[in-house]
Amino acid sequence: MALQVFTAVTGAPWESELVGALDRVDHGVTVVRRCVDVAELLAAAATGTGQAALLSADLRRLDGEAVTRLAAAGVAVVGLVEPGDQRAAERLHRLGIIRVLPVDSGAEVIAQALREAVDGVPAAGHDIADPRAALPTLGVPTPREEPPAGRGGVVAVWGPTGAPGRTTVAVGLADEAARLGVSTLLVDADVYGGVVAQVLGLLDESPGLAGAARQAAAGALDEDALLRLAWTVRPQLRVLTGLARADRWPELRPRGVATVLEEARRLAALTVVDCSFCVEEDEELSFDSAAPRRNGATLAVLEAADTVLCVSGADPVALQRSIRALGELRDVLPEVAPVVVVNQVRRGPVSGDVRQEIGSALARFAATDVAAFLPADRRATDAALAAGRTLAEIAPGSPLRTALRTLAASLTGVPEPAGGRRARRAG
Ligand SMILES: Nc1ncnc2c1ncn2[C@@H]1O[C@H](COP(=O)(O)OP(=O)(O)O)[C@@H](O)[C@H]1O
Ligand SMILES: [Mg+2]
Repeated sequence: MALQVFTAVTGAPWESELVGALDRVDHGVTVVRRCVDVAELLAAAATGTGQAALLSADLRRLDGEAVTRLAAAGVAVVGLVEPGDQRAAERLHRLGIIRVLPVDSGAEVIAQALREAVDGVPAAGHDIADPRAALPTLGVPTPREEPPAGRGGVVAVWGPTGAPGRTTVAVGLADEAARLGVSTLLVDADVYGGVVAQVLGLLDESPGLAGAARQAAAGALDEDALLRLAWTVRPQLRVLTGLARADRWPELRPRGVATVLEEARRLAALTVVDCSFCVEEDEELSFDSAAPRRNGATLAVLEAADTVLCVSGADPVALQRSIRALGELRDVLPEVAPVVVVNQVRRGPVSGDVRQEIGSALARFAATDVAAFLPADRRATDAALAAGRTLAEIAPGSPLRTALRTLAASLTGVPEPAGGRRARRAG
C-alpha cells in the first residue's frame, strides 16, 4: 500500500508541482491531505490517516511542540528548505526534524526520504546532514579541556524526595569540575522551583533555562543564544538558572529542555543538571500526549544524560526513599543505570560500620552499589549558604568539599591536583 502523506508546504510556488509529482503511483506515496497551516496538519495527524508529513521550513507557527505532537501521533516528518538555505535546515533540525531536504531534490528522493522516515532508518548521506548524528553516546563522560563540537558530557543529579542534597552535590560537582579546568555548565532544572541562583548568590533576573527552552521550542537556540542566557561565574563555570517560581513549571517543556542539553554539549565539556525528585508519570494525563506534565522535564534530562547520579540521604528513612525512587526510575526508564552517591553520611542514625551498613542495604533492596559517600558537614554547608558562595570558596579544607572534588575528578577523568587541599586552582 502506498504511504499516506500529509503536506504542509503551502505558499511555496513549487507546491502544486511537487505534490503532483509525488502523487504519482510509482513513487509509492499518496498525498492524502494538503494542509494550509500547522493547526490543520496537527488535526489531520490526529485522525490517524497518514504515516508521514512533508512540511516546509517557512510554515508559520511551526515549533518543537508541533513536531513532538506529530511524533506522538505516529507521523514521521520530512522537512523541505530552499536550496542552500542552511539556516532554515538547522532550524528544522533543532525542532527535532532529522530529515531535511532541499525542495529541488526531486519527487523520487523526497518519496524515498518519507519512506525512510516512516521506517525509522537513520538519516545519513543526505544533502543536509543532521548535526545530531555527530553527538556522542558516551557511557561515562570523560570531558577534558575543550570538547570537540557537540561532545560535552551531561550528568544529571537526581534523587528522591526529602532534600537528600541534590542541589548541594550539583553545585559542588560543577564548581569542582571547573576548578579542575573543565569548562562546565550548571543547569537548574528543578521543576519544583530552582534555588541554584540563590545558593550561588546570583541576582536572578535572567530567563535562564526557561528562556532557553522557549527559544529551543521556537528553533532559535544556538550556542550564542545559550551563552547569552547563562551567567558566567568564572571563565570555566557558567550557570543556567532555574524557575524563580514553582508554578511556572509548564515553561520547562521536555522537548525544549532536551534541545537545550544538546546545545549545552556544544558549549561546555561538562553539563551538570540539578533535577527534581519525581519521575512518576501522570496517569490521568497519559492518554493525552500533548498535555504538559510536570515531571516530563525531569524525565527528559534523565533520558538525555550520559550519567545519572542518584543522591541519597544516609539515614534509614532517606535510604528507604532512595530504594523506592530507584524502583520507580527502573519502571519508567529501564535503560538508565543510575550511579548512587550517598550524602550526609554520619554516625548516629545507622549502627555499626556506617558505610558497610548503607552499602549492604542498597545492595539488598535496590541491587545497586554505592559509588561515593559524602560526609555530613553542616558547618561547611551552613557557611556556604550564609555567604552565597561555594564550598571551595568558603570551606576549602572541609571534608565535604574534599569528597566532592574527588567525585568531580573521577567523573571527569581529570586527576586532582597533587598537593591535596592546599593546591587549589581557580577555574
Ligand atoms: N553533606 C551535607 N552535610 C550537611 N548538610 C548538607 C549536606 N548536603 C546537603 N546539606 C544541606 O541539606 C539541605 C538540603 O540540601 P539540598 O542540596 O538543597 O537538597 P535537595 O536539592 O536534594 O533538595 C541544605 O540546607 C544543604 O545545605
Ligand atoms: Mg534542590
